Amino acid sequence: MRIRVALTPAEQLSAPIGVVIDVLRATTTIAQALASGYERVICTTEVDEARAIAVQEGDCALGGERHTVKIEGFDFGNSPTEYLGTPAARTLIFSTTNGTPLLVSAAERCETVLLGSLATLDAVVQAVRAAGADDVVLLCAGVLGELAIDDVYVAGRLAELLGGDLCDSAWAAVHLARSFPTAVAALDASQSGRNLHGSVLESDIAWCARESHLAVVPRFARMIGTAAEVTL
Ligand code: MLT
Repeated sequence: MRIRVALTPAEQLSAPIGVVIDVLRATTTIAQALASGYERVICTTEVDEARAIAVQEGDCALGGERHTVKIEGFDFGNSPTEYLGTPAARTLIFSTTNGTPLLVSAAERCETVLLGSLATLDAVVQAVRAAGADDVVLLCAGVLGELAIDDVYVAGRLAELLGGDLCDSAWAAVHLARSFPTAVAALDASQSGRNLHGSVLESDIAWCARESHLAVVPRFARMIGTAAEVTL
């Protein structure tokens, strides 16, 4: 299995399998929402698109953030803990700064798109192996187009666990991951982590650093207009 890593969203790699990574916090939060019982998460690039889909769908909840802050008029923000417990609806419409735009873009380039996080680390490794593809790309969401250490850390962890033929980008991610003693140290050191430091959202860093406590693998199911539907 050849493994490449897109260290920033500008590197529009394609492959039969792509794993989108926005560990702080979009892909962790989507995993938690689906694990809690939301049947689908409809991901949009734009906020207005999310509002329009919510009007069409009727029975749904709206979640997401811009620059970490809950979007005005939305039911929930982007903290995974907001999605614990009984779901507010069957469908979650979700829009975030970096994670959901990358997911929409990845769906155009990869036949199968999985969402990766530390919370689902083991399950994602098993799903990629089970898919049996010989070419996999790990796609890092970053922050506003820039490389973010937290996502590269998760890409490195996944690359090391998957093994196979690691390209230089994957080796770079593996070495970055090995340079941190713990996941929380890596997430703390990232721009994504710094964006949460000192706010009421800071506890999300430790939550998103917890490994393999969700036995689910969110995956892209289909496009709904310009939005990407994610299910289990
Ligand atoms: C994003 O998609 O940009 C992130 O998940 C940002 C955040 O932490 O809310």
